[in-house]
Amino acid sequence: MRVLLCVGGGIAAYKACELARLLVKAGSQVRCALTRAAQKFVTPLTFQALTGQPVLTDLFAAEQELAAGHIALADWAEIAVVAPATANLISRLRMGRANDAVTAALLAIPPRRWLIAPAMNEKMWASPAVQENLGILCDRGARVIGPAVGEMAERSHVGPGRLVEPPEIVAAVLRRRDLEGVPVLVTAGPTREALDPVRFLSNPSSGKMGYALAEAARDRGANVTLIAGPTSLPDVRDVRLVHIESAEDLARAVDEHIAQVRVVVMAAAVADQRPARKAAQKVKKTEGKEVLELVRTPDILAGLGARKVHPLLVGFAAETQDVEQNARDKLSRKQLDLIVANDVKDAFGKETNRVVVLAKDGGRAELSGTKIALAHAIWDMVRSRLRA
Ligand code: CTP
Repeated sequence: MRVLLCVGGGIAAYKACELARLLVKAGSQVRCALTRAAQKFVTPLTFQALTGQPVLTDLFAAEQELAAGHIALADWAEIAVVAPATANLISRLRMGRANDAVTAALLAIPPRRWLIAPAMNEKMWASPAVQENLGILCDRGARVIGPAVGEMAERSHVGPGRLVEPPEIVAAVLRRRDLEGVPVLVTAGPTREALDPVRFLSNPSSGKMGYALAEAARDRGANVTLIAGPTSLPDVRDVRLVHIESAEDLARAVDEHIAQVRVVVMAAAVADQRPARKAAQKVKKTEGKEVLELVRTPDILAGLGARKVHPLLVGFAAETQDVEQNARDKLSRKQLDLIVANDVKDAFGKETNRVVVLAKDGGRAELSGTKIALAHAIWDMVRSRLRA
């Protein structure tokens, strides 16, 4: 793969050095271009040493244009990685500026070949200007990876805005769009089963795994519908998002979409029971023992598995003991193709996870890593079975 690495001027520029090294190590040919601001953080010499190639920094430097002019680089590159993409660089790309070597080269590369890895303070990231600019770049076909959530350079700040770790960017660069046009359905998050207008039964699912699965599928070219229970996560770009509350809402929404999809991934933590009655008014406390009557919700996944014809089905098994055995039972009982099992004792809400995936055909894989890395590994297993 011929990669043009465009480095913007943010503190995360130091991670672009590691990115260049890892890309070379992965067998890519790498050329680099640095903005003026990037050179305040890292030097062209660093990238030249890491890639063994001259680095583009100045549109008007005769020897640079001779060695690797911006148009020659644009023609050469199969993919342009913008990392870190600062708010300023994103805005210049949106406007189509060509006022330095980086933007001039990118302007000559179709946006569908761009992989943008934003990194900035979380408040800047949340600004309508940045969101609108990036939205427009996506509309033009650019792919976006991240930002990751975590501690900012200003240590008191935490939020989305960190550059995605270099190994994940490398994985995104090397990944082909192997789910191009495949319609998939992902469910995520908890359900809420109402007792009365102000109370509900639920669970602590954050929805992060399901959202990561939706994001990963989108990046591989799938047409993604994401049905999500209540979460605090931002909407996923370029994914059809359907918000639901209860298990019955979820069952209905799945039913509406099932005919059009080839894969269903049920990452939602669906409540198994709901209160038998939903009181119209707030329930008042009473003296003595108070009893809550529960009834079962429909088992959505088992219902799909029981159909004569159904899409490829991926379930999740959230267990606190005998993880693999319980998951194997669910795999066969619900007639699934794959099941992703994890020990939920300490998994809820975390950025990373450890799971074991079991397949109907006997396949088994132990996976661990960030949720987005896991999501891709799960799609790898789905992809190979779709082919078969
Ligand atoms: N699931 C579902 N409908 C339900 C309950 C669960 O579709 N009413 C799906 C989940 O989304 C998950 C899989 O079934 O993909 C397994 O969920 P889990 O809660 O682990 O299993 P249960 O079948 O509910 O078994 P148990 O609670 O007894 O462990």
